[in-house]
Amino acid sequence: MRHFAYRDGQLFAEDVPVAKMAEAVGTPFYCYSTATLERHFDVFAQSLEGLDALVCFAVKSNSNQAVISTLARRGAGADVVSLGELKRALAAGVPSERIVFSGVGKTREEMAAGLQAGIYQFNVESEPELDALSEVASGLGLTANIAFRVNPDVDAKTHAKISTGKAENKFGVPWDRAREIYARAAALPGIRVVGVDVHIGSQLTDLMPFEEAFARVGKLIQMLREDGHAIERADLGGGLGIPYYEDSEAPPLPIAYGAMVNRITHNWGVRLILEPGRLIVGNAGILVTRVIYVKQATKKTFVVVDAAMNDLIRPSLYDAHHDIAPVAEPQAITPRITATLVGPVCETGDTFATDREMPAVKEGDLVVLHSAGAYGAVMASTYNTRLLVPEVLVKGGEFAVVRPRPTYDDLIGLDRLPPWLNS
Ligand code: LLP
Repeated sequence: MRHFAYRDGQLFAEDVPVAKMAEAVGTPFYCYSTATLERHFDVFAQSLEGLDALVCFAVKSNSNQAVISTLARRGAGADVVSLGELKRALAAGVPSERIVFSGVGKTREEMAAGLQAGIYQFNVESEPELDALSEVASGLGLTANIAFRVNPDVDAKTHAKISTGKAENKFGVPWDRAREIYARAAALPGIRVVGVDVHIGSQLTDLMPFEEAFARVGKLIQMLREDGHAIERADLGGGLGIPYYEDSEAPPLPIAYGAMVNRITHNWGVRLILEPGRLIVGNAGILVTRVIYVKQATKKTFVVVDAAMNDLIRPSLYDAHHDIAPVAEPQAITPRITATLVGPVCETGDTFATDREMPAVKEGDLVVLHSAGAYGAVMASTYNTRLLVPEVLVKGGEFAVVRPRPTYDDLIGLDRLPPWLNS
């Protein structure tokens, strides 16, 4: 459910007119809806009712502390993949016993920080990582609770760049060596083997690959128990897809996903961990931008907006689709155009939509890109010396800037001239 809807001829985010925020904040900016975040979290959590499950929000999808904190108050934990994300989750009030640390390249510094914070679990992805964690933990006189992320060699049938569960991907420990690696881990100091972890990819629109991967995890748990390991947790990762098109068929709903998880895992005798990101926050956010020019080229109509690929890179990077809508509600008489929506960055790849049929817009109009709450702001950069895009959180009739737009002095003031250029 989206809390972005037209009312009295203009787009609202919950009870706040988007145009009012644009006046106050300037464009471009991201806008998130608290009601949508909470609803998505609740729906997901409820789909797992009856199971012992910890929902750890994948902070990489949206790491604004206001978003993390909104979810933490609802009972969410956090799945973090860097020291920065760990710090953010802790700062946003996620209790350390609800934090899991994933990622293929954790440094010793990151391991030490996680151990000292007393996080719930490390998801270990390789033997060298296991050795490093053992060293760091025993050096600190602490114990790391670990699950190995196993690579089930399952095709997630999603975009190649976000598919992670095939044997040729960099993720996880090889399926056929899992038992041997668990045996090694059990003998290492500073390590306590507690579970199994799997994550096969993102934006999955079919439950079958999940089911296949989870069934394999179930078998592995059985074998590991036979080998004498006390497996008490199973982390099933994230990855459930969301609808990016208003009018097209939606991916399976959380309720269907939850039912499948229940069916596959009910007799595993473990605590489940889930790591949804996109599902919680994707459709809880929009990117608001203003039309700078409408440019008639030889072959195309270009709508040039003030957001660009540096603010939302998904279309450039994954050819991702985001619905586009004007903030002023189109009327029956509003003509429709076929336009290519682009930003000001000096690359042809700076294109949000190609030959998209949309209501006619003109210079100065506000336009939104929908479904931009996940992997939007977090992937933004300052390419072309553009200011990092601000973020706004709405709750009912209130809104707050939760990351302000930096100043140009903030941005270019980070550079330093070396001594030989300073005189
Ligand atoms: N757990 C792990 C270990 C992950 O690597 C990911 C996402 C998640 C959970 C959360 O997956 P989700 O529920 O959000 O699908 N930038 C790309 C998506 C990259 C996903 C990376 N890993 C995009 O914009 O589509």
